[in-house]
Amino acid sequence: MADTKKLENRRRFLKIATLGMGGAVTALMSVPLLRFFLHPVGRRMVSTPEAPIDVAGVADIVAGAAPVRLPIIASGVRDAWNRLEDVAVGSCWLQKDEAGTVKAFSAVCPHLGCSVDFSQASNDFRCPCHNSAFAKDGTKKDDGPAKRGLDPLEVSIVDGRIRVRYQRFRNDIAEREPV
Ligand code: FES
Repeated sequence: MADTKKLENRRRFLKIATLGMGGAVTALMSVPLLRFFLHPVGRRMVSTPEAPIDVAGVADIVAGAAPVRLPIIASGVRDAWNRLEDVAVGSCWLQKDEAGTVKAFSAVCPHLGCSVDFSQASNDFRCPCHNSAFAKDGTKKDDGPAKRGLDPLEVSIVDGRIRVRYQRFRNDIAEREPV
């Protein structure tokens, strides 16, 4: 009788141990599967380089002339699956004053993100989408719905070359909030 009870206990123990081990193995194996199916949920899809990007030589920009629009080409951009080389991540308006100071503004309109143009006729920046206007120094003019001026980009000069740190900012708010 005692033997039967012992046998029963052992069977029950083995059953529970087997179920426990099976559950643990299944849980362990499902981690990579879940990661595979959920990728890239919750991750940044595209990462643009944070380092300054070479856009032009200082001598290429004429002092006191109208701003020039230049593409910002990153040597390495990573999205969820790939790393891409030489990708145009955006563009900027560059200008050099008579004293030789170089300034850069993002070409993205701070209203809803259209591309701003420079008007030689009115000597200011204009957005074709909803007619926001910005002075040559980037400040917002009264025309149009933009809530702030053009977004300045950080400029550094290294060995006679202009480098711009490209950044995007949240649209349609008065504050400048990087995204
Ligand atoms: S997107 Fe430029 S004014 Fe609306």
